[in-house]
Amino acid sequence: MKMLQKFLLLLGSVQLALVAAQTSGNFSILSYNVAGLPELLSSGDPATNTPLISSRLKAYNIINVQEDFNYHAALYASDTHAYRTPTSGGAGLGSGLNTLSDFPYADLNRVKWDACNLNSGDCITPKGFTFARVSVSVADAAGGFLVDVYNLHTDAGSDEGDISARAKNFAQVAAYIQKSSVGMPVIVMGDTNARYTRPGDSESLHSFLSTTGLTDLWVSKIRGGSFPSSGADDLVCQFPFPVGTSQADMNACEVVDKIFVRGNPALSFSFPRSTYANAHTAFIDASGAPLSDHYPILSTLVWELSPYVHMGDAVVGGPHGDAFNDLVDLFPTSQPPIASSAVPRLTSITLRGANRLDAISHTVQLPSTTSPAPSKTLTHGGTGGSPSTLTLSSNERITQIKACSGKHNSRTRVFYIELTTNTGRAVSAGKQTGDCVVMNAPGASAAAWGLVGFYGRSGDEVDRVAPLWAVVQ
Ligand SMILES: *[C@@H]1O[C@H](CO)[C@@H](O)[C@H](O)[C@H]1NC(C)=O
Repeated sequence: MKMLQKFLLLLGSVQLALVAAQTSGNFSILSYNVAGLPELLSSGDPATNTPLISSRLKAYNIINVQEDFNYHAALYASDTHAYRTPTSGGAGLGSGLNTLSDFPYADLNRVKWDACNLNSGDCITPKGFTFARVSVSVADAAGGFLVDVYNLHTDAGSDEGDISARAKNFAQVAAYIQKSSVGMPVIVMGDTNARYTRPGDSESLHSFLSTTGLTDLWVSKIRGGSFPSSGADDLVCQFPFPVGTSQADMNACEVVDKIFVRGNPALSFSFPRSTYANAHTAFIDASGAPLSDHYPILSTLVWELSPYVHMGDAVVGGPHGDAFNDLVDLFPTSQPPIASSAVPRLTSITLRGANRLDAISHTVQLPSTTSPAPSKTLTHGGTGGSPSTLTLSSNERITQIKACSGKHNSRTRVFYIELTTNTGRAVSAGKQTGDCVVMNAPGASAAAWGLVGFYGRSGDEVDRVAPLWAVVQ
């Protein structure tokens, strides 16, 4: 019996090794307002409850907490996540926002709201939102994928001043998402202090969703896509839930804590396969009482990588200039998942450079049934340097990129790029440094992968660059 088990185990691991690149998976996300204000101000009992919360966090892959103020050390004490944001300070100094993650993150940015309304203590401490680009690892030669994770805590209260400050908070974070997360998958989770049933908040939430293209997981999973109407009877959850409340009833009521997500052409989130739940029962004390004055909300988010579009994850350069992402222009109307017939073809590319990389400009032929197919030229960077152009022949594609970074005026930028095709032709610009990366098209499958564009950051030069690969028709 023992031998047989061992043999089956061995067989299992051999099969694992033979399995092709992983194209679907899931991770869990949790949003929790942990009521960590100083004991006198807190509406919860943080001194007792924070250690109890801490020891239960390890079950979740990415956690956004709000009101993590004066019990921060206790919140992290029994937690083992490998990546956690450092506190921005106790009440009065910090935003109370932190992220705990099993995956590494980069570019953490804490942004304070421009607007606050005096009541509910909103202007006493710098509330706002955070941005972090999380790198989800996947058992796959092509690496993982990136998703931009936002945590937020909007203005509290329900008078006119609060509703108006909240509308401004939503507009501020929406504008930031549009700019900084252009073309990226996004998760926003936090304490919105807003309900769809409350007039004013309803409009703010709807305009936030339509501006950003995000989906509210509670509305999608629990309400079948039907939004509660503005001004309708509220759907507020009982607090605490009476003993015996069913999980379905816990999920059905509306909390102000919300999860919003969107995919992109390279990565989609499957709403039918993902889950949403009020995680009340996972965060109660021995007597069954909640550990905070908010309920934790939980989702297992199921992701699917596109078989036709892939964002290269080796990023060269620094966090300066403005974000760009060619996915937005390459797939202007298609919603993920993308069909193979929607993939454009790169036909020529011009690099400008001298001491550094000044600009990249490339032309793609858009998929079309009309002949000649329409084309589009995308340009990033400035007008300095001298141009070198490579025009691809009909069965030629760029399959390798070498890129180097260096410092100029104490900012990290792209100094050099070299693109090589499957027939061995190459074009380059700029100057090589000692800090270079070679990136290859995902080559494991028989499909003809080639470069289709870039994402990164640029201004009057190219600040950061990474490849977008696609299966060329
Ligand atoms: C998430 O992945 C695990 C491991 O593959 C699997 O057991 C579980 O059923 C998945 N959950 C969902 C909601 O797909």
